[in-house]
Amino acid sequence: MKTISILFSPIKIGTVEIPNRFVRAATHDFMASRNGAVTERQVSLFQNLAKGEVGLIITGHAYVNPAGIASPYQTGVYSDHCIEGLSQITESVHKYPSRIFLQISHAGRQTKPKLCGCTPLAPSSVYEPTFEVMPKEMNQEEIKSVIDDFIQSSRRAKEAGFDGVELHVAHGYLLSSFISPYTNRRKDEWGGTLTNRLRIVVEIIQGIKELLGKEFPLIVKLNSSDFLPEGLNVDESIDIAKILESEGIDGLEVSGGMAEAGRGSVWKGLRPEKEEGYFLDNAFKTKAELSIPVFGLGGIRSFSVMENIIEEGRADLISMSRPFIREPLLISKFRTGKIKKSECISCNKCFNLRGIACAELIKKKGTLS
Ligand SMILES: Cc1cc2nc3c(=O)[nH]c(=O)nc-3n(C[C@H](O)[C@H](O)[C@H](O)COP(=O)(O)O)c2cc1C
Ligand code: SF4
Repeated sequence: MKTISILFSPIKIGTVEIPNRFVRAATHDFMASRNGAVTERQVSLFQNLAKGEVGLIITGHAYVNPAGIASPYQTGVYSDHCIEGLSQITESVHKYPSRIFLQISHAGRQTKPKLCGCTPLAPSSVYEPTFEVMPKEMNQEEIKSVIDDFIQSSRRAKEAGFDGVELHVAHGYLLSSFISPYTNRRKDEWGGTLTNRLRIVVEIIQGIKELLGKEFPLIVKLNSSDFLPEGLNVDESIDIAKILESEGIDGLEVSGGMAEAGRGSVWKGLRPEKEEGYFLDNAFKTKAELSIPVFGLGGIRSFSVMENIIEEGRADLISMSRPFIREPLLISKFRTGKIKKSECISCNKCFNLRGIACAELIKKKGTLS
């Protein structure tokens, strides 16, 4: 009988050591204040995850510019005045062995003019049916300015004490819409070939490395499929991953989905154990071509499944989102053998404008506390 599971062995992401293989995948918490400032609720949310022994915590997507806000009560990293609040999060987490990365993002065309205060930006004017938005095709100046927004936001993350940054290149947001042949119809150096569609991401990575040094960990959450006939597919995504690795990223989280495809990244419904990890096959295919650590995700719920994934080399880390909304202390419970599976039933009732919370648990207990 095994005494210590491989899931509790450390792993390095670039220069930083993660104490175990469990990752809280980026989860927008709807808990920031109206202007994106960090709140006490967020500080205690992150501290609780660290207390619960999550190896690497990734914050919800923080917007790099007010034009790139995706949702009300989203965390902002668009100005130096955000640094102080963000550092309260890292201070509370660093009382524990957990590490924390800031996910940085721009919503692109997946937002509303009322929210972002402008016509949403995109590589091309391709109508977005779920948000009912006809975006503005970005000009050269706007592209350069967004590249700088990402670089400066990474600097703010470092100054606020984050152990690294995750670039959001998934789920149809701005960077994801640049790499997708469906949403990027440009004929200039920012569109067309895969190299051109990826140029904005590469320039951001190069800029971050130049400003913050190669030692500051930088990972990417990447769409492996848009689920649109003319969109990005897994073969192209693997080619992208190889380029990103050669540009020096320290890890890759493999996700997928786009709102308008009718298939996003957060799939409803529990799956049998052998089908847990709906993006895992894509992660495995990608991992076969890379040397950097790969994060697997998508409805992973059972401890034995997680163990097999790592032991069989299908991924190096296990990312989960909803299970930590249900049970922030999940990893401690796994370690002490109290439970073998997350209680999350993937019903998606935790999306809540007043702050993420497990509606199932509230129903069961009558209250959260
Ligand atoms: C409430 C909620 C908010 C999310 N916010 C983000 C986000 O900010 N950035 C991101 O990349 N993914 C986000 N996701 C997707 C998760 O990171 C994850 O990829 C997805 O939920 C699948 O993992 P799971 O089955 O363990 O929940 C969110 C998911 C949920 C449920
Ligand atoms: S509401 Fe609770 S059970 Fe349902 S998906 Fe969210 S965390 Fe899981």
